[in-house]
Amino acid sequence: MGKDLERILVSEEELRSKIKDIAGRIDEDYAGKDLLLVGVLKGAVMVMADLARALHCPVQMDWMAVSSYGAGTKSSGVVRTLKDLDTDIAGRHVLVVEDIVDSGLTLSWLIRNLKSRGPASVEIFAMLRKPDALKTPIDVKYVGFDIPNEFVIGYGLDYAERYRNLPFIGTLAPHVYGGK
Ligand code: IMP
Repeated sequence: MGKDLERILVSEEELRSKIKDIAGRIDEDYAGKDLLLVGVLKGAVMVMADLARALHCPVQMDWMAVSSYGAGTKSSGVVRTLKDLDTDIAGRHVLVVEDIVDSGLTLSWLIRNLKSRGPASVEIFAMLRKPDALKTPIDVKYVGFDIPNEFVIGYGLDYAERYRNLPFIGTLAPHVYGGK
């Protein structure tokens, strides 16, 4: 993988410590409430696994799979549900767990979709956010790191289904995706 990786943007240690901080805030904010974590497949698998284990409050977990990206690096803006929730979220406190907010198109669609089901609340935790890439305003309550508008891989994030298992977040060398 060495030559495909350009540089490490967020280290394993930084990810771990950020998860701990945010889990502390979530524990406080949801004390005494019944919380449902909704992970967005497949990118949020690592964040969800680490967050869930760092929390002290009891939670349930469910998953949705939506698609807005093909095998390339640009958002299509078209969102399809590939797997819906197994849980009825009416009256529930929902926290959507996401790997990254890029254009925000996927999440804004997802939030609208979830809100139409009558939950008590819906908030978002995104490990990464690219503020310069946002195409729609989106209120992310818990943000891990704001990063530059570059294509990143690792910690759940892929390029053509590869690199998800890297324990850190890195940028991809341009030769991998046909750049210079
Ligand atoms: P958005 O709709 O543009 O905010 O992005 C939706 C999804 O695209 C994210 O949940 C990721 O799965 C994927 N994505 C966006 N940016 C990147 C990136 O830099 N690397 C890998 N996947 C990305």
